[in-house]
Amino acid sequence: MPVITTPLSPHIGLEVHGLNLERDIDEATRQALLDAWTRGGILLFRGCRSAEAHLRLSRCFGKLESSATPDLNVDNNPYLMELKYDPEKRKGPGPMMRVNGAERAGWLGWHWDQSFTSVIARGAVLRMIEPAAIAGETGFIDGIAAWQRLPVQLQERIRDFEVVYHFTPEMEKNPYGFPTDLVNLKTDPESMADLRKYDFPPVVHPLVIIHPETGREVLKLSPMHAKLVLGMDPAQSDSLLHQLADHLVDERFAYFHQWSEDDVIVWDNWRVIHSAAGVPLDVRRRAQRTTLLGDYGHGRYLDPAPGREPRTATIAD
Ligand SMILES: [Fe+2]
Repeated sequence: MPVITTPLSPHIGLEVHGLNLERDIDEATRQALLDAWTRGGILLFRGCRSAEAHLRLSRCFGKLESSATPDLNVDNNPYLMELKYDPEKRKGPGPMMRVNGAERAGWLGWHWDQSFTSVIARGAVLRMIEPAAIAGETGFIDGIAAWQRLPVQLQERIRDFEVVYHFTPEMEKNPYGFPTDLVNLKTDPESMADLRKYDFPPVVHPLVIIHPETGREVLKLSPMHAKLVLGMDPAQSDSLLHQLADHLVDERFAYFHQWSEDDVIVWDNWRVIHSAAGVPLDVRRRAQRTTLLGDYGHGRYLDPAPGREPRTATIAD
């Protein structure tokens, strides 16, 4: 059966139509989905009504990575993580923030997942079970197109640079590509304590990689957790990272998905950065996510000394 797609935006993303997610997906269809994923960077499916359908669809795009955060697992399934915000308990993953004057739970700035680890997962598959009544959008920007929008002179200057990343649980301390008026509301000390328990040593990633399926260069910068261009004078590094992050997170080139119940989005974590708008503190939202296993093979620990393994292999973002 041919896979029918339509663009989600002029810049990134395809919606897949007419696929029955309650049935097995044959090999020809799976290949067509992989081709569409390569064309679109992200794929949207509608009508994914069960965890079984979510897991089956996820496996079309690769092997699944098991979670290192069992507290977020659904029904003790290590491949299925629940991301929810409960307004009654004022509890959800991450801190609560004031962003552009609005109080938000679950807000996340632009990032690729796991930038603070040496191994970068291939992608993720997010299913919306209970969409937010207000806000809750997820944004996506294509790192290939962002690279192509850079002046050639700048491309040549930065092509071989590397960037140091270090896990920063306090969102407001991420300087690059983030709003300048972020305020951490610290309404849930327990959640903050949860995040601080993770101890990730600094890692190094290239600023530019070749995307394996397209052969194109990707501006592989995750504004969240980025600290320094390796080996560069700190002031120059700061200036360059501000310039590149501001360029990358230019929302004129983003697609923001307004979620409906049972929507699923698959994103390519080696190519696409994403962000979460979060929800007002009295608005519920519940989603589940699988993670696509992979390693692009370019990350490393800043300090290669033995005994510097992190306490956990991965967390959600
Ligand atoms: Fe994320």
